[in-house]
Amino acid sequence: MPGPELSSFMMTGASSSLLVLLLLNTLLLAESSAAVDPCCYFPCQHRGVCVRFGMDRYECDCTRTGYYGPNCTIPEFWTRFRETLRPTPGFYHYILTHFKWLWDIINNTFLRDMLMKIVLTVRANLIPSPPTYNSEYEYISWEAYSNLSYYTRILPPVPADCPTPMGVKGNKQLPDPQIIAEKFLLRKQFIPDPQGTNLMFAFFAQHFTHQFFKTYGRMGRGFTKGLGHGVDLSHVYGDTLDRQHALRLFKDGKLKYQVVNGEVYPPTVLQSPIHMNYPKNIPSEKRFAVGQEVFGLLPGLMMYATLWLREHNRVCDVLKQEHPTWNDEQLFQTTRLILIGETIKIVIEDYVQHLSGYFLKLKFDPEMLFGIQFQYSNRIAVEFNQLYHWHALMPDTFDIQDQKFSYESFIYNSSMLLDYGVETLVESFTNQHAGQIGGVKNIHSYILKVAVGVIEESRLLRLQPFNEYRKRFGLKPYGSFQELTGEEEMAAELEELYGDFEAMEFYPGLMIEKAQPNSIFGESIVEMGAPFSLKGLLSNPICSPIYWKPSTFGGKTGFDIVNTASLQKLVCLNVKKCPPNVAFHVPDFNLGKSHLRRKPSTEL
Ligand code: HEM
Ligand SMILES: *[C@@H]1O[C@H](CO)[C@@H](O)[C@H](O)[C@H]1NC(C)=O
Ligand SMILES: *[C@@H]1O[C@H](CO)[C@@H](O)[C@H](O)[C@H]1NC(C)=O
Ligand SMILES: *[C@@H]1O[C@H](CO)[C@@H](O)[C@H](O)[C@H]1NC(C)=O
Ligand SMILES: *[C@@H]1O[C@H](CO)[C@@H](O)[C@H](O)[C@H]1NC(C)=O
Repeated sequence: MPGPELSSFMMTGASSSLLVLLLLNTLLLAESSAAVDPCCYFPCQHRGVCVRFGMDRYECDCTRTGYYGPNCTIPEFWTRFRETLRPTPGFYHYILTHFKWLWDIINNTFLRDMLMKIVLTVRANLIPSPPTYNSEYEYISWEAYSNLSYYTRILPPVPADCPTPMGVKGNKQLPDPQIIAEKFLLRKQFIPDPQGTNLMFAFFAQHFTHQFFKTYGRMGRGFTKGLGHGVDLSHVYGDTLDRQHALRLFKDGKLKYQVVNGEVYPPTVLQSPIHMNYPKNIPSEKRFAVGQEVFGLLPGLMMYATLWLREHNRVCDVLKQEHPTWNDEQLFQTTRLILIGETIKIVIEDYVQHLSGYFLKLKFDPEMLFGIQFQYSNRIAVEFNQLYHWHALMPDTFDIQDQKFSYESFIYNSSMLLDYGVETLVESFTNQHAGQIGGVKNIHSYILKVAVGVIEESRLLRLQPFNEYRKRFGLKPYGSFQELTGEEEMAAELEELYGDFEAMEFYPGLMIEKAQPNSIFGESIVEMGAPFSLKGLLSNPICSPIYWKPSTFGGKTGFDIVNTASLQKLVCLNVKKCPPNVAFHVPDFNLGKSHLRRKPSTEL
């Protein structure tokens, strides 16, 4: 450091001060450019870890990556062998979504189990367990491991003070999020999902994921209130013991409820004094009390809350019948485990089955993982949260029976559920198309601001570029904006806004990426979302060898409830008159047809 010499120079008189200033300037500039964190270049490939040494040196830790060399780019012998044989994710996707005749055979043989096992292990292996980084800690640390208030991170943040916001590539300033949203995400005209997804699916997605996506705004965007980090059903039972106790009846294991028009509904906040988010003008006697405080937002969410409430109390009755000696606590706790099992079963075999478009008949069977290394713990990641912002699913209007409701009249409408009842809402949501999510401009103007918020959040948290995530999940990085969008016009605009494809951001990248043929979204959402999803589902403690047995669920009866659960049963065992066609797709649109024939919404 030339510091002391420079300051003595300064003393020599005002005449030379200009020269000194110039000199100082040059030195400072030289120093600041020399001090660029080399990890800003994302030099380490194949999941190698970048560590900075001194001012301008770095090392890649390539341990157990299968590669070596300064940037973990040289494959070891077996890696080279494996890499040449390994087909791309695109190849698997093609096979799994074509050749129905082949899958009709495979579905009924041992091959189904074998393939399901491969799907699970390959996907789950992409998720680090125990978790690694978070938005505060870009290195492994005890604080990041033990403080459950953080969402975890698959990739550490872009180092602070890099030459550009996305590292070293791209423009010095990222484009205005509002402009990105308006240019590339805002709906011009509703585009129905070509897989036939309906609003039953959309509200299920939102209801299910909001048990673990609960960003704790007051602590900063990198934090969550969902300390369970997975399928804990805190959206049914509350995320604290106090909240749970306020929701419980303390009789026969049941939850509190109210009866309106002869039907069971969640209690009001007068009966269960807990905080629920509602606008001020909604009186307490119209505020429902359920586990997740935001579910007053939409009748679709409260409809699912009602179904799960009824299911809980129904299962309590079944258990009590078999175990008349059990007290309230044991009936409650065992029923909760059964409902967790039902949820996972429905999510894998109905929800993911529909979403994937796979002809392989998916199977929920924890025993598939008993023979192999698998960690029964999970941590929700910021990236998973960002990826799941599927607001394009929402239609232009919500069509209940013959009436169309605007966003203004649907959102926070606390009487609609009681006015129509569960059956009518299920029937209407089943018949109404949801929007395609990826590769199209399809977010309704009313909720576009949520997408803007996602982009702003990703910058505060310094999420790495889209291409770094492509590589992290075993996908080939895109070479250009054209390759991402599959067209020229938007690609040119994006190029202008970002300056370089390596500066393309995560969430816009996921949404703008061209969709796979006749699919709800593009390759990246599938290949990045599936690992988070399957790891989160299968790492639940009920799936572990210690828990996964009939006694955990109160005996064979409870275990059978888990193993035969379906969306159809969730609805039809809990309403008086079962609505027709209960499913995650609109009627007349089954998996077998969806890839061969596209049925536009107007025909239905
Ligand atoms: C009309 C329907 C909807 C409205 C009005 C709505 C509104 C919102 C709002 C205001 C937020 C909070 C944004 C923030 O904290 O900055 C949010 C978050 C979110 N929304 Fe929606 N949303 C709707 C439907 C959906 C659907 C169908 C999904 C499907 C999965 C979804 C997924 C999410 C996710 C994952 C978050 C992040 C939650 C968190 O981190 O706490 N939303 N939404
Ligand atoms: C490693 O990566 C850095 C940064 O991208 C690059 O400048 C350097 O040439 C690479 N070194 C080798 C040996 O590939
Ligand atoms: C195999 O599973 C797929 C997906 O569920 C389904 O479309 C197909 O009809 C099944 N075939 C048989 C024979 O079960
Ligand atoms: C987790 O970290 C945050 C931020 O540093 C801190 O406020 C909070 O108290 C920590 N939580 C626990 C349980 O230590
Ligand atoms: C709520 O929905 C009902 C139909 O169930 C409708 O009559 C009412 O106008 C809606 N409320 C608001 C505030 O739009």
